[in-house]
Amino acid sequence: MTDKKPVILVTRKLPDAVEARLARDYEARLNPYDTLFEADELIKRAEGADAILPCHTEHFGADVFERLPDSVKIIANFSVGYDHVDTQAAKKAGVVITNTPDVLSDATAEIVMLLMLGAARRAGEGENLVRTATWKDWSPAFMVGTQVTGKTLGIVGLGRVGKVVAARARGFAMTVIYHNPTRQPEAEEDGAVYYEKLEDMLPQCDFLSLNAPNLPSTRGMLNAERIALLSEGAIVVNAARGTLVDDDALIAGLKAGKPAAAGLDVYNNEPDIDPRYKELPNTFLLPHIGSATAETRDAMGFRALDNLDAFFAGKEPGDRVA
Ligand code: DGY
Repeated sequence: MTDKKPVILVTRKLPDAVEARLARDYEARLNPYDTLFEADELIKRAEGADAILPCHTEHFGADVFERLPDSVKIIANFSVGYDHVDTQAAKKAGVVITNTPDVLSDATAEIVMLLMLGAARRAGEGENLVRTATWKDWSPAFMVGTQVTGKTLGIVGLGRVGKVVAARARGFAMTVIYHNPTRQPEAEEDGAVYYEKLEDMLPQCDFLSLNAPNLPSTRGMLNAERIALLSEGAIVVNAARGTLVDDDALIAGLKAGKPAAAGLDVYNNEPDIDPRYKELPNTFLLPHIGSATAETRDAMGFRALDNLDAFFAGKEPGDRVA
């Protein structure tokens, strides 16, 4: 690095240890009040910055790249997903893009298990009964849910997170099957059975976990036709991206009992999600907290900084995606 420290615009409040390393190695423009920057504010604050360290909450569409100061050479995301960045526009603008893979797979897989358990065992309803003092009785018919142990889990997207989900699910004696655009090497399947066609897998699933990225090919993939193919009693969980789901289709399905329940951590149009989800008793809903553990937040920040360090040392950042 040269004597003059690169200027980094940090869009959100980051963990103390990450901000301390930022302040040590860079001229960091921090956001202590954690306010959300809309495009105009972001562009204004980026004036004279060499890099931006944003989260998925900031959007970098073509319009933003057109107006971004020329000084900005790299966007080092604090996220594994980078669907908030138009990578073609970034390439055109000559801006390097990185993400933070691997370090959040364990935390996200934990939330997938929580979604499965929460939706199957009616955790939201149960907690509400206790909190609102409306729990009146116990009987064998009270709050009966679906057992997770020993069931078949279909994973759409056996990638970094999907593989950890599969491993955790095996701890519940689940049979794991999966659909990917291409089959994984056998060693990485760890016994999971591959379905080339998603339509062939759906009738086999007691649980369906969406773990695919937001791509043109995955958008709205859980639609009415596919929901109709699910087995009776199937439960759907999503901790990947809300865009994978056609909300109208899923809500209609939940009302009709197929799927029997859904556990959701991600949604279209967060945080202003489709209000109908909140009205349904058979949903277990979390606010996009898949990676929200102290350990993972630190690791995400350090990974983003590793990418910045490499870039400003004239090397290729390890997690370059564009
Ligand atoms: C990710 O890293 O993509 C998570 O969704 C949090 O942004």
